[in-house]
Amino acid sequence: MILDKFSLSGCTAVVTGGGQGLGKVFCRAFAEAGADIVVAEMNRETGPVTAQEIEKIGRRALFVETDVTDRESVEAMVGRALDEFGKIDVLMNNAGIVHWGQAEAVSEEDWRKVIDVNLNGLFFCAQAVARPMIERKSGRIINIASMSGHIVNRPQCQASYNASKAAVIQLTKSLATEWAKHNVRVNSISPGYMGTDMAKPFFENPEYGGVWIPSIPMRRPGEPEELGGVAVFLASEASSYMTGSDVVVDGGFTCW
Ligand SMILES: NC(=O)c1ccc[n+]([C@@H]2O[C@H](COP(=O)([O-])OP(=O)(O)OC[C@H]3O[C@@H](n4cnc5c(N)ncnc54)[C@H](O)[C@@H]3O)[C@@H](O)[C@H]2O)c1
Repeated sequence: MILDKFSLSGCTAVVTGGGQGLGKVFCRAFAEAGADIVVAEMNRETGPVTAQEIEKIGRRALFVETDVTDRESVEAMVGRALDEFGKIDVLMNNAGIVHWGQAEAVSEEDWRKVIDVNLNGLFFCAQAVARPMIERKSGRIINIASMSGHIVNRPQCQASYNASKAAVIQLTKSLATEWAKHNVRVNSISPGYMGTDMAKPFFENPEYGGVWIPSIPMRRPGEPEELGGVAVFLASEASSYMTGSDVVVDGGFTCW
């Protein structure tokens, strides 16, 4: 039956940056679809809270303090996940940061930090999780890109972020073609403006919300939960012939 193909029952999903925002939504969506969750998060306050919330849904959850930019930390996280759950079926490569500032003024440190988390960290996680997936000949990796990998946002200047997210879309295609023969599928999601707790104040600010909202055909930011369905789809057998795809979820923003 078609709905059975969306089930993640018996699966283990690793979610990077699962302590808050979209990452927390992905943890919840996967758990509701039946998966046990590894919350790979650098924040020691928020990560365990997400794990406790997942256990309340009736799934197993493990918080592993992880810095995705640190290969040793990533390898250790994958080791802990395998020790605890025996396998990893799904990686949601979600951890990401943004920096606003005009390109001519951005510091080397700020530039490197964005590329390090959004691109290098995402690659380290994909690589570390893919190895056991390749061995088992089974796995799904979902990279969180952004509509900023397709268009240039305004009025804020965020060249490093835009470049990092465009790279994520191309990296997704590269990894998809390399790992398809191992039955490891790699896709990305490009969200538009999502109304996370962190983003909400900006929508109320005319300098930003006043420019962003008229650019969205649906005339509103997305609710974070509106990404849950796509995430479960890409994590499950329902998307079994998809690899190397980028799914844009932006209320129509990139149509204009
Ligand atoms: N919110 C949006 O409107 C939006 C739109 C498009 C894409 N995105 C992307 O979605 C993802 C999540 O965004 P969000 O809005 O939930 O962000 P957020 O800042 O609310 O959450 C990011 C999480 O990642 C964690 N993190 C940051 N650096 C890390 C590191 N080095 N190692 C491990 N964890 C780390 C943070 O602690 C935090 O819990 C990001 O990749 C972001 O670029 C967000």
